[in-house]
Amino acid sequence: MKAVVVEQYAPIDQIGLKEIATPEVGPGQIRVRVHAASIGFVDGLKVEGRYQTKDPLPFTPGAEFAGAVDAVAGDVTGFTPGMRVMGTARSGALADAVVVPADAVEIMPDGLSMEAGAAFRTNYLTALYALGERGRLCAGEQLLVLGAAGGTGIAAIQIGKLLGARVIAAASTEEKRSFAASFGADAVVDYTRPDWRDALKDATGGGGPDVIFDPVGGEVSVQAFRSIAWNGRHVVVGFAAGSIPALPFNLPLLKGGLLIGVDAAQIARREPDAQTRVMTQLSAWLNHGELVPVVGKVFAFEDFRSAFKTMQSRAALGKMVVRIG
Ligand SMILES: NC(=O)c1ccc[n+]([C@@H]2O[C@H](COP(=O)([O-])OP(=O)(O)OC[C@H]3O[C@@H](n4cnc5c(N)ncnc54)[C@H](OP(=O)(O)O)[C@@H]3O)[C@@H](O)[C@H]2O)c1
Repeated sequence: MKAVVVEQYAPIDQIGLKEIATPEVGPGQIRVRVHAASIGFVDGLKVEGRYQTKDPLPFTPGAEFAGAVDAVAGDVTGFTPGMRVMGTARSGALADAVVVPADAVEIMPDGLSMEAGAAFRTNYLTALYALGERGRLCAGEQLLVLGAAGGTGIAAIQIGKLLGARVIAAASTEEKRSFAASFGADAVVDYTRPDWRDALKDATGGGGPDVIFDPVGGEVSVQAFRSIAWNGRHVVVGFAAGSIPALPFNLPLLKGGLLIGVDAAQIARREPDAQTRVMTQLSAWLNHGELVPVVGKVFAFEDFRSAFKTMQSRAALGKMVVRIG
């Protein structure tokens, strides 16, 4: 089968497609013919060996996919070849086929495209866990989403609206702000402007946001916290801007505010009940058509490098997806 193979940690231009053996299923596993795989911020770091954990070489990147079941281990029930599934893997999804534990996939709702299935799990699990479980966002509250046109940002807009919040989207370009508005943001602000906190104040009617969804980091995070409403919750999701901000401790005191961390990768192990609640709610919204995962741009398999480069150059709108097979 064809797969993207990282033989040495390097920029994506130096990574190629290779012919490798199709993996066999072991106990508890299924093999999925991948139709679409999505690229996340972390995948770009992993390819270059810059992520906090390093995948042993050689490896195939790609942690999210959708496709059709192709082989099922003898001890696995509930799956038969041909079923449409979507799921996650530690790595390996940028390939014609991926082998994963059976509990790493779920059956796709009818009508959901393979591309949307591949764009679903990480961003929407992160957004609902961050806003619902950690940020305790309530109907009628105001939510500020930083990096609002990015993968997690656009998911946070949709989830914020489904939870009944008023959503303010912050993004760096007119195109990104329009994209955010098209997925439900009630107001937009350009957070690259020096006076953006004034615009935010106006957009929230003077009170500031009750909850901040923050996948960006850097100086903008501290500025956002300075604008938070009384009893506000600032949910730390990531550091796409590259620097980890330091918050002066007087600000939470003055605002009665909370700084709350989110790590979706640890939920299943540390908070299995929360993971079940979140996935049950997301599946219900998906099955009723209330939530459709946003697919940013779709690339051909041979053009997988462009998917990485679009994301790495801050040019991505939504999630980057590679179509395979
Ligand atoms: N904690 C968790 O469980 C969890 C889960 C998923 C992802 N994450 C993390 O969250 C972060 C964002 O992930 P994502 O998938 O939303 O990424 P993304 O799609 O690339 O979006 C990130 C956004 O950050 C903004 N940004 C500001 N400065 C940037 C810079 N120098 N380079 C790139 N983007 C910059 C961009 O918006 P503007 O151009 O509008 O500023 C961009 O749209 C990453 O650090 C990722 O590792 C964490």
